[in-house]
Amino acid sequence: LTDGVVLRQATIADLATILGEIGEFWEDPGMEFLHQALYVHEFGETSVVAVREDEILGYLLGFVNPGGTGYIHAVAVRRPARGLGLARRLYARFSELVRARGASGLKAITRPTNEGSRSFHEALGFSVTLVEGYSPTPGARLVFRRELGHGQTDPDA
Ligand SMILES: CC(C)(COP(=O)(O)OP(=O)(O)OC[C@H]1O[C@@H](n2cnc3c(N)ncnc32)[C@H](O)[C@@H]1OP(=O)(O)O)[C@@H](O)C(=O)NCCC(=O)NCCS
Repeated sequence: LTDGVVLRQATIADLATILGEIGEFWEDPGMEFLHQALYVHEFGETSVVAVREDEILGYLLGFVNPGGTGYIHAVAVRRPARGLGLARRLYARFSELVRARGASGLKAITRPTNEGSRSFHEALGFSVTLVEGYSPTPGARLVFRRELGHGQTDPDA
């Protein structure tokens, strides 16, 4: 079902397309703020889109932080393309890209109401911690972490 899907670096045109169809990718309103140009200009090497026949099916914006963690800032899959393993593939590619740049682990955060994100990260073997006061905006956050094993090419391996 994911035949013909190609993973490549994100572009500014991709971010513009995503912003124009933001409701296709996110359940919560107000997620536009995640899609800053710096994920192309500064972190383009580790920000990936999944495309089929010029349609963006999913994307992951992320980078390696100074502590050597691959931080996933945003990941989303177009609603009709969910459940096909696309986000799993995006994480596998991101893991390869950040390991090649010195990362030894992965981290992502989300709001506690995002049960789909929690299930997804648990399925990929991430630990989950509820952290009060994580953000200056109200509410706790779920923090997901996992190690990147040496020699692994896929975080699911
Ligand atoms: C979370 C999200 C990115 C998952 O994308 P996806 O491509 O559907 O995920 P995958 O098909 O790669 O799922 C991998 C595994 O995670 C689990 N999983 C994913 N989404 C799940 C859900 N909503 N409920 C339960 N399990 C889920 C499944 O076990 C799946 O494995 P399997 O079906 O092969 O057994 C997608 O639901 C999404 O875009 N949500 C809106 C944006 C968002 O909230 N992003 C996360 C912010 S941190």
